[in-house]
Amino acid sequence: SSPALTAGDIRARKGGTPLVSLTCYTTPMARVMDTHCDFVLVGDSVGMVLHGLPSTLGVTMEMMILHGQAVARGLTHALMVVDMPFASYEEGPQQAFRNAARLMAETGAGAVKLEGGLHMAETIAFLTARGIPVMAHIGLTPQSVNTLGGYKVQGRDDQAAAVLADARAVAEAGAFAVVLEKIPASLADRITAEVPIPTIGIGASAGCDGQVLVVDDMLGLFAEFKPKFVKRYADLAQRAEAAIAEYASDVRARSFPGPEHVFADQVKGGSK
Ligand code: KIV
Ligand code: NA
Repeated sequence: SSPALTAGDIRARKGGTPLVSLTCYTTPMARVMDTHCDFVLVGDSVGMVLHGLPSTLGVTMEMMILHGQAVARGLTHALMVVDMPFASYEEGPQQAFRNAARLMAETGAGAVKLEGGLHMAETIAFLTARGIPVMAHIGLTPQSVNTLGGYKVQGRDDQAAAVLADARAVAEAGAFAVVLEKIPASLADRITAEVPIPTIGIGASAGCDGQVLVVDDMLGLFAEFKPKFVKRYADLAQRAEAAIAEYASDVRARSFPGPEHVFADQVKGGSK
C-alpha cells in the first residue's frame, strides 16, 4: 500500500481535483473508506453520532484519543485528522499545543482540526511553527452553539466580511486547509478564490477545493435528523432495522440457528 498522505499533500491540492473526505470513528469504517478518501476526519461529531450526546460540548480528549486510535488501525492511504475537543485549546496557544501534541502522539494523527478564525490565528501559528499541521474550521462552528444561538447558516449579508476575514486569518497563520461549514455558496466560492489553502465544504459549495460529510449521515445510519446539506447515499439504519426484525422473528420461530450454524458431536472430513 502507498504511504499515507500528509498535510502537505493536501495543501498542494489547492485548485485541483476536489479533495474527498468523510468523518470516521471506528476501525471497520476506516478500512471501508481509506482508499476512497484523501483524508478522514475523526470528528468530535462522534459525541452526537456514536455516544448520543446532545451537542459536541461534552466530548473529551479521552474520547478523541480512543476513536483516533481505532481509526488509525484501519488506514494505510488517507491522512488522519483529529478534532480538538471543546475546552482543549481555547485557553491559549500553550494549552492547545499540549493537547494537540498528545492527540498526535497517542493516535498517530497527521494533523489536528480546531474551530475558530481570527481569534484562533495566534494559536494556529503557534502550533504550525512547532510541528503540528492545523486544519481550521470556520462558518458554523458547532462548539460555539451556545454563543451562536443555534446551528444557523453563518456569513449571510453583513456577516460575510467577518467569515472572509476568518478565512484569510487562518490561511495567513499557517493552516494547511480550512473547513467551511454552513455558509452561503457564493461566500464559499469567494473564499475559495481568495485564500491560498484548500477549502473543504460542508453545507458550502461544490466550488470548494474539497468536501466532507459525517459518514453516518450520508449512510443514513444516523437517522434522528437530516441537515439540508446532507445527501443520503444509503439508508443503512432502515436496512439494519429490517435485518434485526428478521433475526428476531427467526429466533422466535426457532428457524435460527439453522443446521449450518450448529456443531456436530464429531468432526467430519476435516471440517470445523
Ligand atoms: O466533527 C465533525 O464531524 C466535523 C465535520 C462536520 C467538519 O467537524
Ligand atoms: Na468537529
